[in-house]
Amino acid sequence: MAEVVIVSTPADAGRLAAESIERRLAESERPVLGVATGSTPLATYRALAERGTDLAGATAFALDEYVGLPDGHPEGYRAVLEREFCEVTGFDSANLHVPDSDPARLETAGPRYEALIREAGGVDVQILGIGTDGHIGFNEPGSSLASRTRVKTLATQTRRDNARFFDSIDDVPIHCVTQGLGTIRDAGHLILLAFGPSKANAIRSALEGPVSSSVPASLIQLHPSVTVLVDEAAAAKLEHAAYYRTAYANKPAWQRL
Ligand code: F6R
Repeated sequence: MAEVVIVSTPADAGRLAAESIERRLAESERPVLGVATGSTPLATYRALAERGTDLAGATAFALDEYVGLPDGHPEGYRAVLEREFCEVTGFDSANLHVPDSDPARLETAGPRYEALIREAGGVDVQILGIGTDGHIGFNEPGSSLASRTRVKTLATQTRRDNARFFDSIDDVPIHCVTQGLGTIRDAGHLILLAFGPSKANAIRSALEGPVSSSVPASLIQLHPSVTVLVDEAAAAKLEHAAYYRTAYANKPAWQRL
């Protein structure tokens, strides 16, 4: 099962995530980091910067990209990652891949992105946030657990949640290109982070509910190597929280996140 660590603050989660990322990338001959956008991964990017993690030889792959934003739009995920990941950690943006969401090439965007990930040797460690509707990447409820990178339609709830980055919900694109759940499952290790009360239901369903395409993040139950880092608010509805705390407090020193 996933290792669940309940922390006090997003900064604490970021530090644990960064430590795990640094160690896993150092062990890889061709280090590949899977990066996410949104608010959740920011503390991890800050922690990587604070640790001075050397990402010079690494390649990064974004989970997803909106369709329909003009090139260079500040909320396009390439621009977001350049600003919030590359600039913060010193990662070379030439080594950052984001799905090609140009409308003229959409039909082949998924297979081309899959090929790039394969050519890079696969993702060693994937950072994940979770949507209030249980999505990971932009795999909305109903997404096949075996899905690969493809065009998806965003749920209204997701567009509402992401409207804070735009002038209004009407400006949030309706389509995206996202890694599939099968793509995410292929990563060597998953680090799922969630903060705040709005994530409590999704986290409970993902960790303790049935594995179901209705809760795409429940895919993590099928993955052999997962760390879940949540704050108290996001953990508030977990039935087995006491067990997770006991397991972490008694973690053998040789075990790692
Ligand atoms: C972002 C992504 C999404 C977000 C999720 C949570 O690349 O794939 O799954 O991780 O929507 O977003 P925040 O972190 O803004 O709450």
